[in-house]
Amino acid sequence: MPAPDSPSPVRRQLFARKSIDRILTDSEDPGRRLHRHLGPWSLTALGVGAIIGSGIFVLTGTAAAGEHFAAPSILHAQVLDLIANLAQHGTAAGALLHGRPPAGPAIAVSFLLVAVACGFAGLCYAELASMIPIAGSAYTYSYATLGEIFAWIIGWDLILEYAVSNVAVAVGFGGYIKAQLATFGIRLPDAWSSPVWASGQLTGAYFNLPAFLVVFAVTVILLRGVRESSRMNNLMVAMKIGAILAFLVVGGMLVRPANWHPFAPSGFSGIVSGGAIIFFTYIGFDSVSTAAEEAKNPQRDIPFGIVASLVVCAVLYIAVALVLLGMMKYTAFGSGPAAEAPVAYALSALGAHPLWQSLILIGALAGMASSLLVFQFGQVRIWFAMARDGLLPRCFSAIHPRFQTPHWSTWIAGIAVGLPSGLVDIGDAADLSNIGTLFAFLLVSLGVIVLRRSQPERKRDFRVPLVPLFPLISVALCLGLMTGLTVITWLRFFVWLALGLVVYATYSRRHSEFATGIRPR
Ligand code: ALA
Repeated sequence: MPAPDSPSPVRRQLFARKSIDRILTDSEDPGRRLHRHLGPWSLTALGVGAIIGSGIFVLTGTAAAGEHFAAPSILHAQVLDLIANLAQHGTAAGALLHGRPPAGPAIAVSFLLVAVACGFAGLCYAELASMIPIAGSAYTYSYATLGEIFAWIIGWDLILEYAVSNVAVAVGFGGYIKAQLATFGIRLPDAWSSPVWASGQLTGAYFNLPAFLVVFAVTVILLRGVRESSRMNNLMVAMKIGAILAFLVVGGMLVRPANWHPFAPSGFSGIVSGGAIIFFTYIGFDSVSTAAEEAKNPQRDIPFGIVASLVVCAVLYIAVALVLLGMMKYTAFGSGPAAEAPVAYALSALGAHPLWQSLILIGALAGMASSLLVFQFGQVRIWFAMARDGLLPRCFSAIHPRFQTPHWSTWIAGIAVGLPSGLVDIGDAADLSNIGTLFAFLLVSLGVIVLRRSQPERKRDFRVPLVPLFPLISVALCLGLMTGLTVITWLRFFVWLALGLVVYATYSRRHSEFATGIRPR
């Protein structure tokens, strides 16, 4: 019988923490220790490899053009707009219920602002990674520092960052494959190569087969145990950057400055709304922190890798935005092939040489495929860790006897990403992924403040400057970007979290190693 003032067993378990010392000692075990071979530039390449996927090649156009729904609905209103209208007029009637305002060429400003926001969150990741330099992610940090329920919430939320973002990347890949085949004169039937659901309605298509097939191919590769080696990653990064630089040169010659006017057709509201959409393009920089255990000098190199990869991507993204929006008027990217594959569309519509078009497209496709591979791999790794802690069924950590890969979770991730990729539009998947990732950044930033108070003596090789100011700025910027998303995205996010709590209450809490006292194998 617990003493009257001691916490109940349920409460104790919700806030039960894994000992950082034990995690660190385990990682020092010679049999399990990872080699510290990554220097600052390899870490930067890792970050750039994860960050550049399909977002820059697809969402730049969508965000610049805005989104318009035929039927007005509060569900499609931007939360920021809704709050502003309620504060000013006491009613939501004036809010943009038809969709999202276009950012226009000012999407380049959104890219800059979002890079700054990510920089603050990145510093917070760097502090936690240097404190717990373990090859896990925010899931491991929070289990060690905040308690089981927070670890569960973050682990569940990270599904949005990894699996759902991959749905968006796969849809982007599908759009570009279609565009590439079209340059060879092969036209895929729209019914089998377009999203079934887009802009809040059925499109009449049956299934997006190319998007599904690329996920299937990645799943098979992962099952066979092909891992991203540093050299392979560097090659992919070079291809992606080559494709972007080639686009800047070829597209740059097709720019007509008149297209840059008006620069910001919807003012600040368009810039925030665009920022909330293109936030997706920066997802992945946090993966640098997962390499903390393999960094030669994590104290110096992890913050460097995070900041340098963000700077490289921000410069490339801003340049792509200016060139793309200078090639064609932002209104051109609202729907159809121009929305599915804006870079390919603009090059082909303005008559760029087919050889350049193909080279740029192939580089972009290779980049998207590598991003898919890294994220599927990351998703499976997180599930693997959660299953090892008992929070997910054991099959998630089962290892294939021959290939030595977590085959069940790899298949489950393949199906969980592949099927929706065949159905939804990139925008819906990217929005959900954005809100989930922003929420994870927010928790990580708060985690830094909490831990500075609760464990001030613990060694931190890297410290965020000016705590709590910097983490609070990060929280404010994440919240600001979250308000740029639509009401329907917020609702979907709450439903997702509620579903997660149901799974936790009915399964994970009972099977956790803290409830059973057994470490599942
Ligand atoms: N940042 C990744 C992309 O843009 C997810 O595709």
